[in-house]
Amino acid sequence: MKKIIVTGGSGFIGSNLVNFLLKRNFFVINIDKLTYSSNKSNIKNKKNYRFFKTDINNRKEIFSIIKKYKPSAIFNLAAETHVDRSIDNPKEFILSNILGVFNILEILRIFKKRKKEIKLIHISTDEVFGDILNKKERSDENYPYKPSSPYSATKASADHLIKSYVRTYNLKAIISNCSNNYGPFQFPEKLIPLMINNIKLQKSLPIYGKGENVRDWLWVEDHASAIDLIYHDGEFGETYNIGGHNEWKNIDLVHLLCDIMDEELDRLKGESRKLITYVKDRAGHDMRYAIDASKINIKLGWKPSVTFEQGLRNTVKWYLSNEKWLNDVTSGAYQRYYDKHYN
Ligand code: NAD
Ligand code: DAU
Repeated sequence: MKKIIVTGGSGFIGSNLVNFLLKRNFFVINIDKLTYSSNKSNIKNKKNYRFFKTDINNRKEIFSIIKKYKPSAIFNLAAETHVDRSIDNPKEFILSNILGVFNILEILRIFKKRKKEIKLIHISTDEVFGDILNKKERSDENYPYKPSSPYSATKASADHLIKSYVRTYNLKAIISNCSNNYGPFQFPEKLIPLMINNIKLQKSLPIYGKGENVRDWLWVEDHASAIDLIYHDGEFGETYNIGGHNEWKNIDLVHLLCDIMDEELDRLKGESRKLITYVKDRAGHDMRYAIDASKINIKLGWKPSVTFEQGLRNTVKWYLSNEKWLNDVTSGAYQRYYDKHYN
């Protein structure tokens, strides 16, 4: 049985990935410091699973977990992830997204010196490429890095650091750069679950700027399957873009979501669209991300498994049937964050 360490395994993508790996007979060790966006209860299957509440910056503990379990790989997802929060308070992003990765790299360097090589699969983002303003262009793996927010700058830094460790120390690492994920367990500070929650509660739907910013959307389990494939068949030192070839303007996406919610909640068609409100734009807001994911398709045979319409409907159904989960994560601190950010 293959042992894998997943960091950030109690967050949105991490939980989906851990559940995906457990179903495929991996032994999973989840290391997560349990920030506001995490939820331990997302992992129900406790067989072949261990959890450690630890910061990836904790050298001693991470070192001893690796020594004890001897994993074949670390899938690094632990990070601060919300762009708006990085604009308000960048420091946590630097600590987790840069120094945390540096810590993991240093530990892997020590294990390598001791002839114990552990693969690193690092989960990065399409945001490192910044705005792709020319509508005919997409960012492939050789596209220049041009991060715009403190969040994307920290993710870009980590990518560069990892590439330097591959070249200088011959560390066995692979980086994946993925577009916007959606699906179960996403914290409702992000566009899709925030809108689902607000539509459900008939609260206003805050669209930044004119709503014309474009994102590429991918069903989260398709991201998990791509990571699994990269782990098995990816080449060390390479980077792989992952995306849905599924670009949507924010306003069009929210319209579609409103229509699906009206159907699922038996409301009159058009009712939820009336909640849309245009609000102050995000500072430094990237206009368009457009990932070119043809390399992983051609070289490894990966492609998304669901259409956006199907995936979005599944996501809506999941949030509506997991009311307790949604209520729990939107109480207390979430309300304070929401009021401060949106009012
Ligand atoms: P998330 O915020 O839902 O989860 C992040 C998890 O990391 C949380 O469980 C948190 O407790 C944990 N964490 C944060 N700092 C930590 C630290 N220092 N030590 C240990 N654990 C820590 O985020 P997500 O959306 O699941 O993103 C996971 C990864 O995927 C991130 O690296 C992110 O940059 C990347 N990514 C996300 C998307 C997306 O659309 N959500 C797209 C591409 C890449
Ligand atoms: O592209 C991958 C990235 O996707 C990941 O690396 C990030 O971790 C993840 O948070 C996500 O970043 P975005 O900034 O694209 O996602 P977010 O859901 O915050 O916003 C999506 C778009 O919707 C963006 O253009 C901003 C807009 N938006 C967002 C919120 C929360 C609104 O118009 N209103 C909102 O209330």
